[in-house]
Amino acid sequence: MSKPEIIITPDKMCLLASSWRSDRLKIALVPTMGFLHEGHLSLIKKARETANRIIVSIFVNPLQFGPNEDFDSYPRNIERDIFQLSKYGVDAAFIPTIQNFYSPNFSTSVDVNDLTQGLCGTDRPGHFKGVTTVVTKLFNTCSPHVAVFGQKDFQQAMVIKRMTRDLNWNIDIKIAPTVREHDGLAMSSRNANLTTLERSNAPKLYKGLCKGQTEITNGVRSAKKIQQIIYCFIKENLTEQIEYVEVIDKETLERIDTISRPIVIAAAVRLSKTRLIDNIILSPSNLSTS
Ligand code: PAJ
Repeated sequence: MSKPEIIITPDKMCLLASSWRSDRLKIALVPTMGFLHEGHLSLIKKARETANRIIVSIFVNPLQFGPNEDFDSYPRNIERDIFQLSKYGVDAAFIPTIQNFYSPNFSTSVDVNDLTQGLCGTDRPGHFKGVTTVVTKLFNTCSPHVAVFGQKDFQQAMVIKRMTRDLNWNIDIKIAPTVREHDGLAMSSRNANLTTLERSNAPKLYKGLCKGQTEITNGVRSAKKIQQIIYCFIKENLTEQIEYVEVIDKETLERIDTISRPIVIAAAVRLSKTRLIDNIILSPSNLSTS
């Protein structure tokens, strides 16, 4: 067990990354907002498969939170996070402060247009602009060859893939599967803010998506029908505060009518103060019935 090098300033991060690059070492970056769980750790494991230097960034990025969102109450525990990273042999933990990452007159942003419009972009205006701006800064400071993101935030991963392609970064964006609790709830730092009752009900979000998946494997091909089945299940069993339930094309993230190609079924709900999202990818092999 060896402690990662803790790096606070962007300048120092740039220097370390460029020295690794001159030594021809392959760098993987795992961007996070901390309060690490098994989902984050699975991304580190994936990073290790292809790289020989791993950087995990921990930064609760104010730019991606709306004015009425949970920036202040977002769970944080840096000491525990660093302990976890030691167990996973991470080489560097990049933990900038808001002050040293965003200068007082910071005025530049990076924005991806079409993929950010629907789904989480509808209820969180400006959110993806905050994500793409901070990920751009992380790419520039850490100079990774590979960056790993989670399927749990599928739209985010696709937006970052698009941004990387559009801006000609030679970075391999990998997407790792969602890690779940034993009862199916997708792991998330925000789960720590659920009340006991909300926590016991929360797996019904995934249950709803699985219900949709079952209907599809049973032969239903109408996206609207699947959407309604999931919507009604979540409304009856979990909450009426449903932000969206969508059946979308896996590549374009556009709504579809008939299920005939790789799709994602995705949903977002609010349970009092906590927002939960989840999704299931269905590829042609899952669609072979009927
Ligand atoms: P955060 O929510 O901390 O997530 C960091 C990474 O972990 C993201 O790529 C996310 O998709 C992945 N992740 C979260 N829960 C997961 C799970 N249960 N299984 C697998 N992967 C999971 O996403 C962010 O931070 C931020 O938006 C960030 C990209 C760091 C930019 O600020």
